[in-house]
Amino acid sequence: MVPVLLSLLLLLGPAVPQGTQDGRYSLTYVYTGLSKPVGDVPKFQAFGFLNDLSFFEYDSKDRRSRPLGLWRQVEGMEDWEQDSQLQKAREDIFMETLNDIMDYYNDSNGSSDSPASASQVAGITGSHTLQGRFGCEIQNNRSTGASWEYTYDERGYIKFDKEIPAWIPLDPAAHITKQKWEAEPVYVLRAKAYLEEECPETLRKYLNYSKSILDRQDPPSVVVTSHQAPGENKKLKCLAYDFYPREIDVHWTRAGTVQEPDSGGDILYSGNGTYQAWVVVSVPPNDTAPYSCYVQHSSLAQPLVVPGDAS
Ligand SMILES: *[C@@H]1O[C@H](CO)[C@@H](O)[C@H](O)[C@H]1NC(C)=O
Ligand SMILES: *[C@@H]1O[C@H](CO)[C@@H](O)[C@H](O)[C@H]1NC(C)=O
Ligand SMILES: *[C@@H]1O[C@H](CO)[C@@H](O)[C@H](O)[C@H]1NC(C)=O
Ligand SMILES: *[C@@H]1O[C@H](CO)[C@@H](O)[C@H](O)[C@H]1NC(C)=O
Repeated sequence: MVPVLLSLLLLLGPAVPQGTQDGRYSLTYVYTGLSKPVGDVPKFQAFGFLNDLSFFEYDSKDRRSRPLGLWRQVEGMEDWEQDSQLQKAREDIFMETLNDIMDYYNDSNGSSDSPASASQVAGITGSHTLQGRFGCEIQNNRSTGASWEYTYDERGYIKFDKEIPAWIPLDPAAHITKQKWEAEPVYVLRAKAYLEEECPETLRKYLNYSKSILDRQDPPSVVVTSHQAPGENKKLKCLAYDFYPREIDVHWTRAGTVQEPDSGGDILYSGNGTYQAWVVVSVPPNDTAPYSCYVQHSSLAQPLVVPGDAS
């Protein structure tokens, strides 16, 4: 599961905002449809996120919803059989919308003669991509926001304005989609009710089972390694891993002064509900000043400081 998720995220960029620890929780669904499969990535994939963590996946290959990561051990949160039926119905509407867009643009599915305006994604993969993202957020048990929007080849396609309520086309082809999704007045009322009532209700239900996962404070483990290639500066690498939540400060100091990293600095998801981060600093020959790796994380009462010459 994880490699597919990672490859999609690499393809399409970060899926959801980062987790927060201020009594704020979010439920986000990300649906992705491809006009032709790319490698092992199925034509349709759905992921659900609670805060920054993916908790379920569904795809067009086996058409079943299944819990992910730490949610595999959670009993009773969702009826996954029933959810599979819901996702199947959503997949069909989603792929129909993608076909409508391609019809409008006279795009054959999987053509490589994409117009110059087509995004990098289409350029690289020869596939067009429709992505839908919707969800809601609560803070201290009160609804604080909800949104529902679609992109086509990474450009805005259509989004829902729940105050009007109406679908707002952001692309010429989206007028067809708007017509279909507003064919009955009750459709927009249902979308509004979904965002304002059903989604927060689902989020509250899920939190009943997920707070211990989302409110976890897993402290980082830290290792420092040293590497020297012939004729080059020594590289000191500091790796922090197995921590949650995501926010962390990892940096090198030289004689107490913060050093610019030579490389690293990204925070990566480990797939098992924790993150890792590393930074490398370059040490000039004959530099005898003490180097230390400094790690600060919300789980730690005080920063971890690991000397660079430990190995
Ligand atoms: C692509 O073409 C096939 C066959 O013409 C069609 O069944 C399918 O729905 C089309 N669109 C997508 C998005 O797969
Ligand atoms: C698609 O093709 C039809 C007829 O071949 C043409 O009338 C229409 O303008 C084309 N649409 C676009 C967006 O190029
Ligand atoms: C949270 O809000 C819902 C709906 O407004 C309410 O039913 C529930 O009792 C609230 N829970 C807490 C812990 O306040
Ligand atoms: C909360 O979870 C418990 C089991 O952990 C369950 O018995 C209870 O019905 C749940 N409450 C709601 C409102 O989902």
